[in-house]
Amino acid sequence: MILLTGATGSIGRHLVRRLADRGAEFRALVRDEAKGRALGCAYAVGDFDDPASLTAAFAGVDRLFLGGPGALPVDGEQPMVRQLTAAIGAAAAAGVERVVKVSVWHASPDSLLAQGAHGVLDRRLAAALPGGWTLLQPSGFLQNLLAPGAFTPDGRLVGRYGGAPVSHIDTRDIAECAEVLLTGPPRPGESFVLTGPQALTDRELADRVAHALHRPVDLLPLAPDEVAAALTAQGAPPAFTADLAALLREVAAGSLAEVTTAVPDLLGRPARPVDAFLADHLPALRTAADHP
Ligand SMILES: NC(=O)c1ccc[n+]([C@@H]2O[C@H](COP(=O)([O-])OP(=O)(O)OC[C@H]3O[C@@H](n4cnc5c(N)ncnc54)[C@H](OP(=O)(O)O)[C@@H]3O)[C@@H](O)[C@H]2O)c1
Repeated sequence: MILLTGATGSIGRHLVRRLADRGAEFRALVRDEAKGRALGCAYAVGDFDDPASLTAAFAGVDRLFLGGPGALPVDGEQPMVRQLTAAIGAAAAAGVERVVKVSVWHASPDSLLAQGAHGVLDRRLAAALPGGWTLLQPSGFLQNLLAPGAFTPDGRLVGRYGGAPVSHIDTRDIAECAEVLLTGPPRPGESFVLTGPQALTDRELADRVAHALHRPVDLLPLAPDEVAAALTAQGAPPAFTADLAALLREVAAGSLAEVTTAVPDLLGRPARPVDAFLADHLPALRTAADHP
């Protein structure tokens, strides 16, 4: 029995479909009944913030896909650390043998960002299930293009990475890698840096979006300090925005530029290119870019 957390999220929802299509025995952890019914698979209602609910959800589970919320600090802490620590504890208590966890590329414990939260959590997972963990360390998601804030109200792409290329990945590929690692031979103790098949600068990405939308797409380049200042003005804690600016400077220096072979190695085919992502998500892209 496989349990999926984050089953309604940008990776989990694709994994649900993949596991259902192959007839795997699995259930999804959802926070309410309506979301479980909408997924159309077996589900258990539970919440990382309610550890008792996790005990029931983990009954009989031997493999876990550990996906969860992105990280926003509250009062200087990442709720995600507490939440996924509860899930790791429930997995250990239930005797789960294999955990495939979504982490992030360049996770390190000393940051208020997702990188810091995952840095702490990845260590906790390795300590709790020494022979049973595998990490997915994805580059930036192409699906971020569809999220609020990706485009300005006048339809320009917001560029946060200077002139540096980034090897964005489609979350459908992350889900397929998770599927292989959950259902195939175990790969304990391994971490996979998952990237797309090419690295594009913000300008090159804007050009690809323009091609997909059949209209010019200008770029609004923002320096790391400008991104941080805008978020601080919206009430984000200064320590968080300072860490974010530092991260963006690292990306602008090329920290997400490498293209790895992990996706083709795991899936036996190339990672999905940006153009395929854009073509497959045209209605959502039009909404994000033309009616942000
Ligand atoms: N975005 C990127 O570029 C990027 C890059 C690398 C790594 N990552 C990592 O990828 C992961 C997924 O990020 P995402 O932005 O794709 O997430 P997402 O799509 O927003 O999905 C979050 C999932 O977590 C569930 N969840 C939230 N709070 C919960 C709680 N208290 N108890 C149980 N489930 C809860 C949500 O369920 P509901 O439907 O109930 O809300 C949803 O299924 C994160 O760990 C992030 O750090 C992201």
